Amino acid sequence: MIRLSPLLILAACGGATVPQDLPVETADTAVEDTSPPPRPSLELAREIPNEATEPGRFETTLVAEGTYDGDTPVRYQYSGDVIRAQVGNQLAAVLDNQLQSPTTIHWHGAGAPYEMDGVPWQRQPTAPGEQFTYTFPLEQSGTFWFHPHFDTARQVDLGLYGVLIVEGPDEPEVVNDLVLILDAPHESAVDPHHHGLEGQALVWMVNGSIDPIGTLDAGPTRLRILNASNTGYLDLDTTDMTVLALDQGIRTAPWSTDSVVLGPGDRAELLVDLQGSMDLTSRPFSLHGGSAWGDPQRLLTLTGSGPSETPMPTFDVDPASPTPDPGTTDITYTFQGDGGSGQWRINHETFPDVTIEEVALGDDVIVEIRNLSPTNHPFHGHGHAFEVLGVNGVPPARYTLEDTVDVPIHGVVRVRFEATKAGDWMQHCHILPHAEGGMMTVLRVVDPEVP
Ligand code: C2O
Ligand code: CU
Repeated sequence: MIRLSPLLILAACGGATVPQDLPVETADTAVEDTSPPPRPSLELAREIPNEATEPGRFETTLVAEGTYDGDTPVRYQYSGDVIRAQVGNQLAAVLDNQLQSPTTIHWHGAGAPYEMDGVPWQRQPTAPGEQFTYTFPLEQSGTFWFHPHFDTARQVDLGLYGVLIVEGPDEPEVVNDLVLILDAPHESAVDPHHHGLEGQALVWMVNGSIDPIGTLDAGPTRLRILNASNTGYLDLDTTDMTVLALDQGIRTAPWSTDSVVLGPGDRAELLVDLQGSMDLTSRPFSLHGGSAWGDPQRLLTLTGSGPSETPMPTFDVDPASPTPDPGTTDITYTFQGDGGSGQWRINHETFPDVTIEEVALGDDVIVEIRNLSPTNHPFHGHGHAFEVLGVNGVPPARYTLEDTVDVPIHGVVRVRFEATKAGDWMQHCHILPHAEGGMMTVLRVVDPEVP
């Protein structure tokens, strides 16, 4: 049967003549044809129960599971999405590897000691069918994440990751504390040398669905947002956007802004007063220099329902002031490379053929990252969170502690940290095809007491 185009039907409604020999569908069908498909409901991230029988511990088994088409993996995931623990807890997470490939867990940003860092030169990856227990104290509040550090780009792209929330003793009182995991799946299927992987070219999913709608109780709402994508940047915007924290927990009173840029691996916490409906959007963002032309993409819509008796939290944080840049530099990383060659380098070196820089335990370390390549890079350091001293010479407006920072195209970012953990710490770009293309190096923190 011949179907009328919606346009023709509209024209028909407007009084145009419908050719006599065409069958005319009913008005009902016509309305169905023109309406957009219904938007999916927001899925809540699956919280992982604490199985500890003693106080002060968080124990769980994380099963790494795969769905395969023949031998080809189509989806990887852990048995849950969110660990919610308290500062001071000892985390004990058993990785139960039910994949057909070896894997590890890296606790991105959470301050795990070197033995628990999940990098394959520290310890052999966990083989299929084997288990390994990651255990370390959770000392820092914030929103962190965990993901493999073996065959990383592929395993993360397939969906193997989760969020680690560590709550401090005085968290603000909110009605909703919502985890939003943003990812653009199947990025490995796109040619990694074609650098058109820009925010607007990706289809973003929020907790697994595209452009969902969520209905929550009205009132103060904390949004913990993770950019879990391999390559895509987000430039977030919402109504009255207020930032509660960046990577490493609440440091200062919330601040309002109209843009939060999250590169791969980065997190931000927003605080919103959810009354009625609000959209979270992402502006087009080019890896070749930032803000780009085009319409913002809607990521999700949240609706607050019912009356809210909970007031917006007030903050009595004594903000630490940003450290003035001392102007000295201990380590310089120059980021080089280009998508054409697929070669990405730090200080002219391609991982694993790299010079290991050394600092001593207790050192105050200033790192300068200079981006000489034609694209932005999210820099991530294992082991130590850092304070950003400045971006292109401009000091930050407030003190924040981060573990992942965008290094703009042709830009210079300076950070400082105190070396408190001995180990061979990976420093790399969190655009995972860049890391795999060689944009990784190692910083050795030496304990002078240990020969
Ligand atoms: Cu989130 Cu070395 O990684
Ligand atoms: Cu990069």
